[in-house]
Amino acid sequence: MNGIKILSPATVANLGCGFDILGLSLQFPFDEIFLYKSNYPGIRMNRIYGSTLPPNPNKNVAFVALQALLNKYNKNNKQNEQIIGFELELIKNIHPGSGIGSSAASAAGVVFGANILLGNPFNTMQLIRFAMEGERVASGTAHADNVSPALLGGITLVRSYQPLDITKLHCPRELWVSIIHPKIEIKTSDARTILKQKILMTDAIRQWGNIGALVAGLYQENYELISRSLEDFIVEPIRAILIPAFYELKIRCKEIGALGGGISGSGPSVFMLSKGNSTAKKVTEMMNRVYDPLRIDYQTYTSPINKKGVQCIKIIQ
Ligand code: HSE
Repeated sequence: MNGIKILSPATVANLGCGFDILGLSLQFPFDEIFLYKSNYPGIRMNRIYGSTLPPNPNKNVAFVALQALLNKYNKNNKQNEQIIGFELELIKNIHPGSGIGSSAASAAGVVFGANILLGNPFNTMQLIRFAMEGERVASGTAHADNVSPALLGGITLVRSYQPLDITKLHCPRELWVSIIHPKIEIKTSDARTILKQKILMTDAIRQWGNIGALVAGLYQENYELISRSLEDFIVEPIRAILIPAFYELKIRCKEIGALGGGISGSGPSVFMLSKGNSTAKKVTEMMNRVYDPLRIDYQTYTSPINKKGVQCIKIIQ
């Protein structure tokens, strides 16, 4: 096997109340990644469509994640004289800075692909760690709430970072996601800098009540409980100011049947969850209606939850 084509999904991190711990994988949009094994050492980024190649490869998410995997592989195979390198082409359909896991899609996709090309020496938890190194470059923090759902699919929970303990949650059959991506850029690093480092006990109590109830709602497929739990008292009030018409979006989407939603990752995208495809489509149309008068370019998506996550769709001999 010389090369493979990978589809790597967009993801929604935080899911409202679960800052840095909850995330889900979307069916649309996704990045396309072509990865080839090479007999020359190192990593060559041949092309990126839909984004620019940073002049310094150490600032490129895909490069850094792949290098982390390669370092570990070489360390584990010191005796092996075989030289391993990779060549890479990325088609970025997920816009960098959109808040729907663009950097995670690159990082998760390349490590997933490289693992297949090397004969699967690493387990998913190790792949998550390599991909998190890419996130460290992108946002200054190695958060796992985008790369976990990208690699595991469905809805995921980071129980602990030290040690890393990640679990896949039950995904209700009729859960759909509407996304609006206003074409303004919010850097994750900036959106993290503005957050408070200390929170009130009263806010913490309300927040962990919601996280627990959201997880229970997912397992019970109890859409009313999911709806009541989709409130973030800690991060959203600070970040909402960065997103034009954020509260109007939330109110009007809920009026027509959305269960609730919030900022996708660090924004600017906003997500809303719905029960069923037809409600989700109406919610997406409402997002369009709220944004049409604003003179801000935007893009919307309606997507089911992607239960598989990143996938190999083609083997190139
Ligand atoms: N949990 C991260 C944040 C996700 O909200 O900063 C970034 O996509």
